[in-house]
Amino acid sequence: MDVQLVAVDELVLAALVGAATRGAAPDEVTPPLGDGWTPERSVWLRAYHRDRRAGLDGPCGEATWAVLVDGAPVGGARLRWTDEAGVADTGLWLTRSVRGAGVGRAALAVVLELAAQAGVRRVVAETTAGNRGALAVLGHLGFTLGTQVDGRVRAGVATGGPRPRH
Ligand SMILES: CC(C)(COP(=O)(O)OP(=O)(O)OC[C@H]1O[C@@H](n2cnc3c(N)ncnc32)[C@H](O)[C@@H]1OP(=O)(O)O)[C@@H](O)C(=O)NCCC(=O)NCCS
Repeated sequence: MDVQLVAVDELVLAALVGAATRGAAPDEVTPPLGDGWTPERSVWLRAYHRDRRAGLDGPCGEATWAVLVDGAPVGGARLRWTDEAGVADTGLWLTRSVRGAGVGRAALAVVLELAAQAGVRRVVAETTAGNRGALAVLGHLGFTLGTQVDGRVRAGVATGGPRPRH
């Protein structure tokens, strides 16, 4: 399976919103904006990616990508500077049909490479204690899992990348 991360241009964005609405739960992709895939959620998702096209060094301090499997968008990934120098947090969602097949692991590995190239020293992530898929992916990629607080687990890994410039 060929897993790639690509910039979310308008063509990719249209396909990504379609994939999300057909294949992922709304709360896995957007903030709670009504029950189900409301029009507000699709509007939010489009604006979210458009506003972040300038990447980590842009006004939002965040980069987003579409995850492609064999050329088709099946999910989204993001990387955002935190308040801590050199540290960025990441998040990832995939459509149900591709989960459990190694796509998440491959996509997050690319995020870590891109993070290192961008001068991120450490990547952190947060998930729920019951999200076995996410915890497995983080563990495979060398993240140290923190202790559980209120059902949430924070994790972090050093990128081995260049010295921080943020
Ligand atoms: C979390 C997520 C990105 C992981 O991606 P993925 O492609 O499913 O993960 P992978 O196939 O690379 O690896 C998943 C691992 O967890 C295991 N696993 C356990 N329960 C699982 C589950 N319910 N779903 C998927 N994988 C599960 C798999 O067996 C695999 O382990 P292995 O590599 O030792 O065989 C994806 O499942 C997803 O999009 N979930 C919904 C959104 C989400 O929870 N995002 C994370 C928020 S922090």
